Amino acid sequence: MRAKISPLQKPLQASGLRVPGDKSISHRALLFASLAEGESRIGGLAPGDDVRSTARCLAQLGVPLLRGDGTPWLPKPRSLESHEDDEPTFVPPDRPRGSRPLPERDVDMGHDDAIVLGQGLGGLREPPGHLDCGNSGTTLRLMSGILAGAGLEATLTGDHSLSGRPMERVARPLRELGAVVETAPGGKPPVIVRRGHKLHAGAIASEVASAQVKSAVLLAGLFTAGETSFTEPGRSRDHTERMLRTMGVEVIQRGNTVAVRGPAKLSPVSLDVPGDLSSAAFLLAAALIAPQGSELSLDHVGVNPTRTGFLDALAMFGARLELELPAGIGPEPVARMTVAAQKLRGAELDGDLVLRAIDEVPILAVLGAVAEGQTVIRGAGELRVKESDRLAQMAAGLRAMGAWVEELPDGLRIEGRGGRLDGGARVDSAGDHRIALSLAVAALLSHRPTVIEGVEWADVSFPGFFRLLRRLGADIEMLP
Ligand code: S3P
Repeated sequence: MRAKISPLQKPLQASGLRVPGDKSISHRALLFASLAEGESRIGGLAPGDDVRSTARCLAQLGVPLLRGDGTPWLPKPRSLESHEDDEPTFVPPDRPRGSRPLPERDVDMGHDDAIVLGQGLGGLREPPGHLDCGNSGTTLRLMSGILAGAGLEATLTGDHSLSGRPMERVARPLRELGAVVETAPGGKPPVIVRRGHKLHAGAIASEVASAQVKSAVLLAGLFTAGETSFTEPGRSRDHTERMLRTMGVEVIQRGNTVAVRGPAKLSPVSLDVPGDLSSAAFLLAAALIAPQGSELSLDHVGVNPTRTGFLDALAMFGARLELELPAGIGPEPVARMTVAAQKLRGAELDGDLVLRAIDEVPILAVLGAVAEGQTVIRGAGELRVKESDRLAQMAAGLRAMGAWVEELPDGLRIEGRGGRLDGGARVDSAGDHRIALSLAVAALLSHRPTVIEGVEWADVSFPGFFRLLRRLGADIEMLP
């Protein structure tokens, strides 16, 4: 599907907006709750397609998952065209024989929340068919760790984009721990985890800093007697460590090494998932570069320090952002954020900051393109193996819209325009949600309308993004 996005004519103004729940935390909440002994309740789950992929796979492994209203939590994916009041189609989960009766509706929970009847570490069963992880790398990689630890056999597949992504980075460490894991030629999916191979504890050292690989290793370690550790060159996001601790697992941190001791026992949780800073970034960026008088505030956004590189980058662009941190109760800190339109200057972004903003590099590139002066982003080579080659796609999209962008092997060099881009172009999301969302923000702040191909991919992490922009006054036309 294509969208024609016209330049914003008036300021963006809104207060107290909520963004979708954090995708990384939502995947982990469903996965870990499935391994716990007892019933977990998770509020504010990410509503996008990726977390549905995780839920669907867990149902295939025999885990009963319900929505907060007591109905099975497995609607078919929503499309951009559907309206909020459309009747969702439910796919009831297969429940293992002898399961307890399903819990009643919880009046404190909403439709998109989840009740998970954890099966314990020994309670999963082999899936009847392939586990389709859709577009979600987190689903495939974390699920590989669980299957290897549990000694269950399954074939993990994905869509066209996921089928081109590197999986040896997760297969290799699991093999080092004794698992038998196969990948297709080139180390790509499908990934096959073979049954019946008992793992042993071990110390894994990874060449890439990756929270997905780290989580897969730690998950496998939960099932295995002894200490299993993971060492990475930089400190990747630590949602797994925080959530495991909340569920009663001892997690040991030594510099960039993290370890768990197995076999572990996970207690169920009651969790309120914070809003996703990676989704908030698109709205914050739009408000920053929108017409004078724009002001936006967002409530309950996650500000885990291993994820806040985007906020540090904004400071380097010279932007002022107001943060209010209420006293937190959960394992993850949250904040209210307020931002107003202002002039930005180019910045040099590198190292740990880029690792902590790895999913926000595309929208940072948009800010660089409209800022005054040069922006250089380095240390972002991992972007070449995300849902698309995000460096190449952002360079192509922004150039078509009139920006000056040079691709570096591990980043981008951008000569800022000190104002709006030309627009008037046709650009492509390349089947990547973060490219669709980033180019949409760039289009709002251009001189002429821009047509974006493949905008429906935004639903992977931010369903309702275009509806929200329209509500805030943007002129967006969906074309067949
Ligand atoms: C994620 C980790 C990061 C990130 C991805 C989500 C996670 O990937 O880019 O969007 O939830 O663990 P890597 O582990 O490949 O760095």
